[in-house]
Amino acid sequence: MPGESAYTRANYGFEDIALKGTPVAACASCHGKDGGGGGVFPNLTLQDETYLRDTLYAFAAGTRRSAYMQIMASQLSPQQINALAKYYASQPRRRADANPPAPTALGEAVALRGESAKGIGACASCHGATARTGKAYPRLEGQSAWYIANQMRLFAGDGRGSTARGDNPMTAIARGLTPAQIDAVAAWYAAQPPVPVQARPAVQVRQAAR
Ligand code: HEC
Ligand code: HEC
Repeated sequence: MPGESAYTRANYGFEDIALKGTPVAACASCHGKDGGGGGVFPNLTLQDETYLRDTLYAFAAGTRRSAYMQIMASQLSPQQINALAKYYASQPRRRADANPPAPTALGEAVALRGESAKGIGACASCHGATARTGKAYPRLEGQSAWYIANQMRLFAGDGRGSTARGDNPMTAIARGLTPAQIDAVAAWYAAQPPVPVQARPAVQVRQAAR
């Protein structure tokens, strides 16, 4: 089977990360040494611990579909998943793409205002800095442009799945945008600086608003 050799390492099983750190070394072969990703590989350091943890469980269960990641995640123990989520959430963050495509006014308009003719709200209302719902929405600032656009195409084709919250609006959103809008919003987010740690804890924002 082509590419089969890429998985031989995972088949050995992982040591406990707290003891050896082996899982991080295995992840690094695709997501980069610092977890910052790039190109087809997402930047893991942008996301908070809850999203990373839920996502690894979703890959293992197959509710989020990815051939690569199901193989990886289904071999991790719950302890390793928790430790990996904590690890990547606490790494310094950088943009995934060193030279992202130039951001445009179209991309900014989709991100910050949405597409009202199609009833699509601003991406930032869910993915934005305030994280006001307190849900573990993934961050997009500094994510790889290719990855964002490809996720939109997967959502539109209903091929991506999601974490188990059962409230994923992305299929309808992705279907409502044109290819030009998708590429533009992906480029806009890829060019944004990652959100600093202090601005991120969703729980604090939610408590302050009450
Ligand atoms: C063989 C390459 C490969 C390896 C090794 C790998 N990944 Fe991935 N990972 C991917 C790809 C490709 C995706 C994008 C999947 C998709 O299209 O949805 C991904 C996606 C992810 C995501 C989702 C990110 C997001 O923004 O939703 C997480 C979390 C993740 N990987 C964690 C890990 C961890 C932790 C490890 C090590 C245990 C690991 N990956 C090892 C290729 C890999
Ligand atoms: C009503 C809330 C909402 C809005 C508005 C929204 N999203 Fe999402 N988005 C989500 C949720 C929820 C998920 C996570 C699914 C999961 O947990 O796997 C998601 C996931 C994503 C992902 C995958 C990220 C990753 O790291 O894998 C991308 C890319 C994305 N959205 C882009 C967009 C863009 C671009 C827009 C604006 C056109 C947008 N979203 C608007 C709720 C929203």
